[in-house]
Amino acid sequence: MVVLSRRSVLKASAVAGIYGAGMGVSRFLHAAQPEPLSIEAKFISAMVDGVHETKKMATYALTGGQPAMPPALRMQRGKPFAAKLINHLDDATTIHWHGLRIPNAMDGVPFITQPYVYQGDTFDYAFTPPDAGTFWYHPHCNTMDQISMGMTGMLIVEDPKDPVFDAEIDLNLRDFRLGDDGQFIALFKPRDAARAGTFGTVRTANWQVEPRYDAPSGGLLRIRIANTDVTRLYNMRLEGAEAVIVALDGQPVPTIRPLDMAVVAPGQRIDLIVKMPESEGQQARLMDLRPSTPKVVASFRATGASLKRSLGDVTPLTPNPFQTPDLKNATHIPLVLSATAEDAPVRPSICGSIGYSFWAINKKPWAGDNDDPTAPLAEMKLGKTYVIDLENSTPQAHPIHLHGMNFQVIASSSRTVEPLISDTYLLLPDEKVQLALVADNPGDWLIHCHIIEHQKTGMTSYVRVS
Ligand code: C2O
Ligand code: CU
Repeated sequence: MVVLSRRSVLKASAVAGIYGAGMGVSRFLHAAQPEPLSIEAKFISAMVDGVHETKKMATYALTGGQPAMPPALRMQRGKPFAAKLINHLDDATTIHWHGLRIPNAMDGVPFITQPYVYQGDTFDYAFTPPDAGTFWYHPHCNTMDQISMGMTGMLIVEDPKDPVFDAEIDLNLRDFRLGDDGQFIALFKPRDAARAGTFGTVRTANWQVEPRYDAPSGGLLRIRIANTDVTRLYNMRLEGAEAVIVALDGQPVPTIRPLDMAVVAPGQRIDLIVKMPESEGQQARLMDLRPSTPKVVASFRATGASLKRSLGDVTPLTPNPFQTPDLKNATHIPLVLSATAEDAPVRPSICGSIGYSFWAINKKPWAGDNDDPTAPLAEMKLGKTYVIDLENSTPQAHPIHLHGMNFQVIASSSRTVEPLISDTYLLLPDEKVQLALVADNPGDWLIHCHIIEHQKTGMTSYVRVS
């Protein structure tokens, strides 16, 4: 690591300030680059079902690190970050930093923001994360294969002002599709891709089945959770202890509220503060209530003498910068999610077409990741407010993710909404929602469903900000 000079630190925080005011940052990017992390994309063998070594799992590894799940990357808000991606896979890849509002050229979308990175090649990423919170990273090329086989990692952006708790645990939740012998089976089934998506056979947290963690008795435990699965929605509840929600999708919630039950879809994150049980040995369990038989996701065992903390002492996290949308002068952009009318042609792609077209946005199915994408869904003017009128005309739920910018949830036809700030909104069947944003980051930004089979069979497009 290069030690930053005081001058470069000051420059770095100036960059964050300018970004907060809604101007582009790319020309300041070279202000102060740290030594890049080397992130190798590669295959390993690892045990995830608790019994067998699974061969050919795909992961990210820091050079010199042990073969394991992709490491949780920690960055500092307003401080430059740099990484060199080195591709040791047998296919092209890229890295997308899900939820980070960074310059377009660093967004990791092949053909739209950067060239794909072929086997043996490298790509240099460098950016300054403007927001603190819980995010994640994954490929945006051959995503069906590479994400299914392991390449999802958590990304934590810290702020020196972050409150400190007695313990902190990161949970990367995802399934794997493994057979009885612990080896990969077909990663998806076409008939499921045309419905809710194909579910995994082995459910994991941090690549383990029902892991158990220790935390101080009576202490406050922060759990950062990312749902990085290709398909599965969670209905989360905690048993055996009380918890509050402090952030959703990386953004602090304005009012802390108890975790009763929270729906967390692929791409989404939730930050909880748990008051650990008072006596040593007692356990709290994070549960998924969505399946007919509720499942334990992970458990937390109290250790030591009680610290006697109280959830009442938890205060809201510092909000990230967000430009308030000017709703009176907003331009509306209608987007309708639907099934494709006819079987649209699918072009082969070096970034992995999965060969079917089932879904569309505004009747247009994405033709695949190619050097000739369709025209943008909308052209936005830098600095202007837009309201995306998003309508789900299908019987499935779709977590819709926008790259590069955050939106605020304004209204929904099917529920009372809080004005939350997010990058991934779960549309329920037949729901209509209004998402407002100031177009404050120039470039071509993808918008797509984060159920990867939906994304890869048509439910993808992009908007242009200039
Ligand atoms: Cu999590 Cu387009 O990505
Ligand atoms: Cu979908």
